[in-house]
Amino acid sequence: MIVGIIGLGTLGRAIALGLRDHTAVRALYGTNRCATPLADHPYILILDGNRALVERSDVVVICVKPFQVEGVSREIASLLTPEKLVISCAASVTIAQVQAWTGDRAPIVRAMPNMPCRIGEGMTVLARGVRATPEHLERAQSLFETLGRVAVIEEGLMDAATGISGCGPAYAYVIIESLSDAGVKLGLPRDVARLLVAQTLMGSAKMVLTSDVHPAALKDDVTTPAGCTIDGLMEIEDGKLRHTLLRAAVAAARRSATLTSG
Ligand SMILES: NC(=O)c1ccc[n+]([C@@H]2O[C@H](COP(=O)([O-])OP(=O)(O)OC[C@H]3O[C@@H](n4cnc5c(N)ncnc54)[C@H](OP(=O)(O)O)[C@@H]3O)[C@@H](O)[C@H]2O)c1
Repeated sequence: MIVGIIGLGTLGRAIALGLRDHTAVRALYGTNRCATPLADHPYILILDGNRALVERSDVVVICVKPFQVEGVSREIASLLTPEKLVISCAASVTIAQVQAWTGDRAPIVRAMPNMPCRIGEGMTVLARGVRATPEHLERAQSLFETLGRVAVIEEGLMDAATGISGCGPAYAYVIIESLSDAGVKLGLPRDVARLLVAQTLMGSAKMVLTSDVHPAALKDDVTTPAGCTIDGLMEIEDGKLRHTLLRAAVAAARRSATLTSG
């Protein structure tokens, strides 16, 4: 399969980096606005224009900003066929919009990946449009599984997923930065503090992903009566961390629904 990525910015490059090891991907094409080769991504063949990319690709991945999707879709519309799969990664842009802008010529899958795709630890949610068959969805799933985990959801939940996993890495980095600062305050060298925090978050996340145990029960397991963890947890409750994280995700999801309007 030949994959073309329109928009080689932050996300487009991360996807390209992950896909280069996909056994079924025979070639990776990409475009950016000025058709400049990317010296640090030599495995992406840069084409001069989106139409040239669509002509050569079996799967077209749209990775431009939400407000740019309409222009790109209209530009490539006449070259699309039912055999070419379009995957739109833009937040806020609906499948119906892409379908209308492309003249309803190709199956469309909507994706919301996140940046850890870059290292094969991404989380992508997929939703399929009416013209996309289960096989199209499987093809998209197989591509994004090279970049991490994949969940299939109803399109109506895309903004929710954007608020949680699309934006989630930013929340995680803030937590890592804050706890690293705490380590420095307590006398740990900065690099050691950051290692302790990042590995602890990764290990805890893996515990959740690899067991059916509720996170609250896992927390109880590490909270000794009259020990030190419960003192830390009291501060977390006092600072309303749960409520703050909940509000952050809800605010991001709400904003996600309005991105195309500026
Ligand atoms: N970043 C994330 O974590 C993330 C996660 C999930 C979804 N998304 C979605 O992914 C999309 C891209 O986000 P991003 O953060 O990667 O944005 P970005 O870094 O600004 O990348 C957009 C890229 O599209 C290129 N571009 C613009 N118009 C084009 C055109 N007509 N033809 C070809 N290329 C064109 C831009 O080129 P120039 O630099 O030359 O303008 C730029 O390289 C957005 O819709 C966003 O909602 C992003």
